[in-house]
This record gives sequence, structure tokens and C-alpha cells, in this order.
Amino acid sequence: MSRPGTTEQRSLAHWAEDGRAGMEAFYALAIEDYRQMVAARDWAADLRGHAAEGRVRVLDVACGSGKFPAELQRRGLAEAVAGTRVEIDLLDPSPFSIAEARSVLAAPFAVRAEHEVRIQDLPTGVGAFDVAWATHALYAVPPEEIGAGIARMVGAQRPGGFGAIVHATSASHYLRFAEAFRTTFAPGSVPFTSAGQVRAALAAAGVAPAVTTLRYDVGNADRATVEGFLQRCVFDDSVPLERMEAEGGVGAYLAGCHDGDGYRFSQVVDVITWEVAA
Ligand SMILES: C[S@@+](CC[C@H](N)C(=O)[O-])C[C@H]1O[C@@H](n2cnc3c(N)ncnc32)[C@H](O)[C@@H]1O
Repeated sequence: MSRPGTTEQRSLAHWAEDGRAGMEAFYALAIEDYRQMVAARDWAADLRGHAAEGRVRVLDVACGSGKFPAELQRRGLAEAVAGTRVEIDLLDPSPFSIAEARSVLAAPFAVRAEHEVRIQDLPTGVGAFDVAWATHALYAVPPEEIGAGIARMVGAQRPGGFGAIVHATSASHYLRFAEAFRTTFAPGSVPFTSAGQVRAALAAAGVAPAVTTLRYDVGNADRATVEGFLQRCVFDDSVPLERMEAEGGVGAYLAGCHDGDGYRFSQVVDVITWEVAA
């Protein structure tokens, strides 16, 4: 079904119960994003290193369905932070996403609060977090509003707090496909926000981040799964795979992603981390 509205509105329409099938097709491939980012650094050390009196307070920005904390749990976070209580606030404008994330959280996480708002709208009274992260989370925030969103995220951290944003670059499948789809099928739609724009917004917010770039491929041979993945990538399920393969810039892009019987997509993802000045 075609969905009207801005990219952010279409994102929200998909992060709902009737978007569950699309979400599941998406994560058949996108689960690799979470494996890669969790393996990329010692997140337990980040949490332990910013704890005080045996607890660390975390803000999970655009928590989605909780794939990042779920992968941390799967990789043994509870043992790695033993003795530290990880109190997590879930932020997402979608009540569906907050409920999904809450349902997957287990030790060492304990949900402290929920904020059903866009990051741009987080009230200034919510703050003093030891850690704030946003993982594959900010693509649908309009580029002209990402500065306000990042300023709010940084403003919600305590002095000396740790921040992380994991976000695809313009060289990555997510951004390349979204741009090809926009020019071919949805010329009036709002572009996705890129890692470069996130980094510029962080600089404007006064933090000097460190960046590590991850490169990996995700693939699948099942056409229905690939179609669901691609449609969810752009929050638009109105264009079937056959049409994407046949038309304009999307057709040209997909022609370069064939891998034997199926498709492989190249991801180039920045892991952006910082500490707020103490
Ligand atoms: C791909 S999910 C994030 C994945 C998540 N970090 C995880 O670990 O599974 C993207 C989320 O961004 C949310 N979102 C969309 N616009 C937003 C905004 N302006 N501010 C905060 N969250 C937003 C959507 O509702 C959705 O739940």
C-alpha cells in the first residue's frame, strides 16, 4: 500500500502493528547491522566506565524494536558489566516501538522511563544521562531538523557522559537506495539524513567525536524477503521488486547488487562516539 506524507510520517506509519511483516523481512537482512556494531567495540567498558555508585543511566534514542540491546544481551553484556545496574530510558515517537523494545529487554537492563516523543521534541527537563545512544535510528529525522535533534540528545547528557550514534554513510546501501528510490519513484519526498550530516550536527552541538567506519555486505536469495527489505528501507511498499528492477536509477542501482541467485547490498556505517566535556 502506498503511504502519503513526509519520510518521518511514513516511518512512523510503518513502526506500527500492521507493519510487522515488513519489519520482519527487513531484519532478515538488517540483523547483521547489530551484529557488526556490537562486535565493533567494547560497549560493556563504555557502560562500566560511565557508571556511578553501581549504576549507569542510558537514553536509547529511537529505540525501535530493541535490536541493539538484544544483541548486547545475546553477546553476554550481563556478565561483562557484572555488578553494574543498567537503567535505560526508551525514547521513540512510536508506542509500538517502545512496547517492542521493552518486551526484549532483560538483564542487565532495567527500564526506568519511556518518552513517546521525537528526539527533536524531548523536553529539556529530561537529562543527566551517563550514556546516550542512537543506533541506525535517525535516518527519517529531516536533514533540516537533525541539528535540533542532536542538540537535544547532547543536551540530555551529563558532563563527562558518553554518546554513540551508529549511522550509515552516503556510500552505504541505505542512503544510496533511498536516494535512487526518491529520484525514481518519489521526487517530492524528504531525503534521508546521512552520517555526514549527523557528524556536522554533533560538531555544531560542541562535541568532537571519534569515528570508526564498518564495511560489510548483507544478502538474501529469496525475492519476497528482498522485496520486503527494500520496501522497508524506504518506508514505501507501493512498488514491487519487478518494477524497482525495471525503472530508472533504482533499476541501475539494483543491477549492480546481483549476487548469483540473489542480492548483496554493501553497507558503510560510521560508529560515532564522544564524551561530553566534564
Ligand atoms: C530502525 S529503528 C531503530 C532501531 C533501534 N535502534 C534498535 O536497536 O532496534 C528507527 C526508529 O526511529 C523512530 N523514529 C522515527 N522518527 C524519529 C524521530 N524524529 N525521533 C526519534 N525517533 C524516531 C521510529 O519510530 C523507529 O522506531
